[in-house]
Amino acid sequence: SAPLRQHAAARGKFIGTALATGPLSNETQYRNIAATEFNQITAENAMKWDATEPNQGQFNFSGADTIVNFATQNNQQVHGHTLVWHNQTPGWVQGLGATAMRSAMQNHISQVVGRYANNAAVVSWDVVNEVFEENGNLRSSFWYNTLGQSYIADAFRYARAADPDARLCINDYNVEGINAKSTAMYNLVRSLREQNVPVDCVGFQSHLAIQYGFPSDLRQNLERFAALGVQVRITEVDVRMQMPRSSSKDTTQANYYRDVIQACLAVNACAGVTIWGFTDRHSWVPDTFSGEGAALIYDENYQQKPSYTAVHNAL
Ligand code: XIL
Repeated sequence: SAPLRQHAAARGKFIGTALATGPLSNETQYRNIAATEFNQITAENAMKWDATEPNQGQFNFSGADTIVNFATQNNQQVHGHTLVWHNQTPGWVQGLGATAMRSAMQNHISQVVGRYANNAAVVSWDVVNEVFEENGNLRSSFWYNTLGQSYIADAFRYARAADPDARLCINDYNVEGINAKSTAMYNLVRSLREQNVPVDCVGFQSHLAIQYGFPSDLRQNLERFAALGVQVRITEVDVRMQMPRSSSKDTTQANYYRDVIQACLAVNACAGVTIWGFTDRHSWVPDTFSGEGAALIYDENYQQKPSYTAVHNAL
């Protein structure tokens, strides 16, 4: 039957995946499915600071270009991920004083966003990622501890200056339901926009786990952000389970994927859904959550799972 991207396009939404450069160059099935099923691509790691500017002023775009070229060849859009984050950022950045750190951030954003500003595939960026603690306080990252909260507005302004046409997003996890963290995100986005800070979009990572339940107010939460005038998007969905797989866990997982797609379809301002990879052969979950896995829509042998069918049928 028709690939996911064809159904998504007919609904006016994107269906995306995160891609890793290793399997993209080594595995034919990985390339073929990535090209066929999806119309939006996020680099899983290749655009992060440690990959693009490992040493100050020395930029390396080899992995990022690999992703962008693949997307261009396959008529896919690229969502840039990510400019300012507390993880996967080199030690040289973390050790700078305030003035030097702010100018390093400005230079990084201007070089990375600027490289793709005239590239038709690259249309959006996660400008800041994971700036909140679970209780809704701003995270006490090296960014916050050195620069104070102004680093967030500055990052958006630098990104806008580097590409006036790119859609600029703030992205986080555990903000899918209505809770202290998502309400802090809501208040920050409203306040930034009141100050004319160029925040265009809010990304909801949606790293879900069947044992923790589905955020049943996802649609309602997306709607309250949409009412602020921003685009919303599901940026990194996966649905992990405690291993081993079983058919009942697969069914629950499939229902979660279905419900995520349906929530986005129900909200006009929701641009689409990106899955954080597509095959259990290459997923961050087993490396990150002990004893958990099988979070994606193809198994480790590239066979479609019930979750694939659920996404397909929901679109
Ligand atoms: C993860 C990647 O999937 C891993 O390969 C890497 O080792 C660590 O980062 N939130 C994000 C993503 O915004 O960048 C993270 O990606 C997953 C959590």
